[in-house]
Amino acid sequence: MGDSFDHRHIWHPYSRVAPSTPVFNVTHAEGVYLTLDDGSRLIDGMSSWWAAIHGYNHPRLNEALQQQSQTMAHVMFGGLTHEPAIGLAQRLIRITARPLDTVFFSDSGSVAVEVAMKMAIQFQAAQGKLQKQHFLSLRKGYHGDTVGAMSVSDPDNGMHSLFARTLPRQFYADAPQCRPEQSWDEQDISSLHRQLCEHHEEIAAVILEPLVQGAGGMRFYHPAYLEAARQLCDEFDVLLIFDEIATGFGRTGSLFAYEQTHVVPDILCLGKAITGGYMTLAATLATRVVAETIAQGEPGIFMHGPTFMGNPLACSVACASIDLLLESPWQQRVLSIERQLRQELSHCLQLGNVADVRVKGAIGVVELTHPVDLQRMPEAFVQRGVWIRPFNHLVYLMPPYIIESEQLTQLTTAMMETIALFDH
Ligand SMILES: Cc1ncc(COP(=O)(O)O)c(C=O)c1O
Repeated sequence: MGDSFDHRHIWHPYSRVAPSTPVFNVTHAEGVYLTLDDGSRLIDGMSSWWAAIHGYNHPRLNEALQQQSQTMAHVMFGGLTHEPAIGLAQRLIRITARPLDTVFFSDSGSVAVEVAMKMAIQFQAAQGKLQKQHFLSLRKGYHGDTVGAMSVSDPDNGMHSLFARTLPRQFYADAPQCRPEQSWDEQDISSLHRQLCEHHEEIAAVILEPLVQGAGGMRFYHPAYLEAARQLCDEFDVLLIFDEIATGFGRTGSLFAYEQTHVVPDILCLGKAITGGYMTLAATLATRVVAETIAQGEPGIFMHGPTFMGNPLACSVACASIDLLLESPWQQRVLSIERQLRQELSHCLQLGNVADVRVKGAIGVVELTHPVDLQRMPEAFVQRGVWIRPFNHLVYLMPPYIIESEQLTQLTTAMMETIALFDH
């Protein structure tokens, strides 16, 4: 358990600086295991929030970092360039859809979203559409915690009322309801259609997480939604931004979720697993049309440039992570994780406090009838030797792809037993 200094002085994600929910002190991470300061070992079911797809302490990633640190840890990217950034941009362009062929590097997923939003505004402004400064996003979506990213995330989950005077005004369509296994219901797109009809003159872009709404509810939806959204965006002259910060790099069973459709976005945000969970790095890819249009408008440049843009350490480890992923049988791994999660988590449906079980790729979700007990449930998981971090009504798994079948069974068993413990 974390000590009292931590409780008194350090903010954790969505917490307060006061004794609140427990924190556990990690001393070592290797493969799928996290070791705590009391020596106990936990199987990691979270991949450090979608990121550590190869597991921890991977020799290939360690080597990439060590080698890069001996040549150049960082240099400014303004006016300078380097092989790690060029190599990473080449890889990203190669593995994404052809129209996406420009890359903007930034430091985190939220910033990649801010960059995407600014690109869309500059793209519209360059064509004299100065009133197109707002965005249309989906309820139950999540795009990050910075102000712009927050403004396009779910207004209720994001407590927009609290920040009402700061957050830019945006538009929201109802969250998609049609699940991937159901037959497509065209009604599902009607809310997005209505919003576009009413507000398209003010909308620069639609932004959404393709196929999986992550932190806003771990919801899976129908690929036809994206086909319909693409058509509407073209019809109403707005750009389409896909936020694949969570879904990117194989998690849903394809390298990028949009590959399960015929749709290509104008702008694509990537982050999280881009470095295999080693360093903070994100990328915003845009089509040449977007990039050239921005260049032709006022002021002729894109108005963004972070200090640590294209950090060589992060780019090197990202190159190594992408190579490692592509050389590995990641598709079979994700598929067998999916099969096993489907089979083993289905038993949770027998519990009275379980409302739904859903699986997509290497993501397994058990939705409870009541919000989880954040004081007691994480500890119950730790006592069972697993690291699972639930939120709201959701207990979910997104293990590293290298997890072995018995280790995954340990996770699903611990999940079932712990949920049963809270079934009263
Ligand atoms: C879909 C999506 N977009 C953006 C973000 C924000 O990324 P970061 O936490 O790196 O700022 C997240 C983080 O969970 C996410 O899941």
